[in-house]
Amino acid sequence: MAFNKDSVAGTFIFSALLCLICSFMITGTAEVLKERKLAKKRSEMKRYVLVAANIQGDNVNELFAERVQPLLINLNDGSVASEDANTVLDFDDRMAAVNKETSIKPKKDTAKIKRRANQARVFKVIDDSGKLSSVVMPIHGKGLWSVIYGYIAVQPDFNTIEGIVISEHGETPGLTDYLTTSEWTDTWKGKKIFNAKGKLKLKVVKGGAKPGDVHGVDGVSGATMSGRGVQRSVKFWFGKEGYQTFLNSLKTEA
Ligand SMILES: Cc1cc2nc3c(=O)[nH]c(=O)nc-3n(C[C@H](O)[C@H](O)[C@H](O)COP(=O)(O)O)c2cc1C
Repeated sequence: MAFNKDSVAGTFIFSALLCLICSFMITGTAEVLKERKLAKKRSEMKRYVLVAANIQGDNVNELFAERVQPLLINLNDGSVASEDANTVLDFDDRMAAVNKETSIKPKKDTAKIKRRANQARVFKVIDDSGKLSSVVMPIHGKGLWSVIYGYIAVQPDFNTIEGIVISEHGETPGLTDYLTTSEWTDTWKGKKIFNAKGKLKLKVVKGGAKPGDVHGVDGVSGATMSGRGVQRSVKFWFGKEGYQTFLNSLKTEA
C-alpha cells in the first residue's frame, strides 16, 4: 500500500521528523557556540587580570601564559585545589556561590553577597625574573542597585594596590560610568588596604580623599554609594572569609 503523506499519520510523521531535525540543529549550534562562549569568557578574564596587574600588550593570550599563574583555591584553609589553567578559568564561581553544597552564608557579610563560594580563583603574576610581582583576585559586592564585579591586584606586600578593574555592574548608567574608567581606577593605585597594625583602612571618601591619605580613594559626587560598594567588597574579600588565609599562606611562603 502506498504511503499517503496527506493522511493524519503522514502529517504526524512529517511534524515529528521536522522537530527531530530542528532539535539536532539547535543542539549542534548550542554545542559549537558553547566552546566559543567559553573561549570569549576566558579571554575577557585574562584581559581583566592583565589590566588589574598593570601589564600592557596586544597579545593577551601570550602575555597571560607568560606572566600569570592561575590557581583555584579553597578559601577556608587557603590551600590550592587546582593549578590547571583551563580548570581555573572555567570554574563557575557564580554557580558555586548559589549551590548550598559548595558555598557558605558569610558570618559577616560586609559585601552583602548573601552566599560565598568555598573556592575562588586567584592569579599570581610573575615578573621577567620569575619573581612574584602581584596577586590578582576577583572581588564582588553589592553597590547601590546591583552587584559590582571586579579584579584587584596587590603587590607582594599584600597590602599596596597595584591596580583595580571593574568588569561588570548594573548601577545607574551615566551616573556611575566612572566605575569603569581609568581616571577613577587609577586613583586606587598605590593605596594601602591595611594600616601598620593590620587593620583594614581602605576607604572611598565622599568629597575626595585628602592629599597624602594612603588609605583614601576619591568618591565621585552624586554616586558615592556605588564606590562605597566597591570599598565594602574590598573589606569583605580581604577579610577572614575572603582571601586572608590564602594571602597569609603566601606571606609565610615568601
Ligand atoms: C535615579 C537615581 C539613580 C541613582 N543612582 C545611583 C547609583 O547608581 N549609584 C550611586 O552611588 N548613587 C546613585 N544615586 C544617588 C544616590 O541616591 C545619592 O543621592 C547620592 O549618592 C548622594 O550624593 P553623594 O554621592 O554625593 O553623597 C542615584 C540617584 C537617583 C535619583
